[in-house]
Amino acid sequence: VHGFKPLRALALGFALGLSLGLPAPSLADGARTPEPAIVIANPGHCIAPAAEMRRNHPEMLKHQRDVTVHTGTRGARVRLNACIECHASRTNGSVVGGDDNFCQACHAYLAVRLDCFECHQATRAAARTALAHTGPQP
Ligand code: HEC
Ligand code: HEC
Ligand code: HEC
Repeated sequence: VHGFKPLRALALGFALGLSLGLPAPSLADGARTPEPAIVIANPGHCIAPAAEMRRNHPEMLKHQRDVTVHTGTRGARVRLNACIECHASRTNGSVVGGDDNFCQACHAYLAVRLDCFECHQATRAAARTALAHTGPQP
């Protein structure tokens, strides 16, 4: 018996949604499966091009001692609070909490667990306070 492939099933579900004229997620460059709709809460630019961010943000965010892979932002100090300051939603001020929240939307879809917010603050207000105490951003 072949194993159940949840991502395949999701992709099929989205493909069906597309054929029914429902809101469809977009195909990112090079992606083999459709991706969820990502809400960008604030206009502007990320710390690196979106394609690079999609690919490399796990490496960028690793606790400093774990960083081994070189990225386009090599040497830059990446701060989780800066991500939150830009990416927190306008509705609940957070990057997690609902499926329209930036980090959670994509991670829930991919079933990649995000345990960072057991220790780190997930809301914009808290991130701003923390940034004020840690100085300027990269
Ligand atoms: C100065 C504001 C700002 C900061 C800081 C920032 N981002 Fe972004 N990010 C954006 C914007 C605006 C976009 C979409 C437009 C673009 O392409 O730059 C984006 C796009 C992204 C994307 C691609 C989303 C997609 O369309 O698939 C990811 C992933 C991402 N950011 C993660 C992060 C992470 C992780 C951090 C912290 C390390 C971070 N961002 C920091 C503003 C920011
Ligand atoms: C466009 C989709 C998308 C968005 C938005 C996104 N991620 Fe991710 N994230 C991924 C994918 C895909 C992986 C798994 C990559 C892999 O396994 O190689 C991942 C992995 C990670 C990892 C590593 C997890 C692990 O166990 O290895 C961290 C940490 C992470 N993301 C943090 C964040 C944070 C924080 C945000 C919001 C600021 C965010 N991500 C937004 C798609 C996304
Ligand atoms: C057990 C608690 C804990 C967990 C869980 C945790 N961190 Fe951290 N993290 C810390 C501590 C403590 C620091 C050091 C704080 C400082 O330097 O001010 C830190 C620092 C960081 C930094 C560099 C400084 C900053 O504020 O941005 C990043 C980036 C970071 N963590 C990302 C993550 C991500 C992404 C996850 C989830 C995969 C995560 N952390 C999970 C405790 C944790």
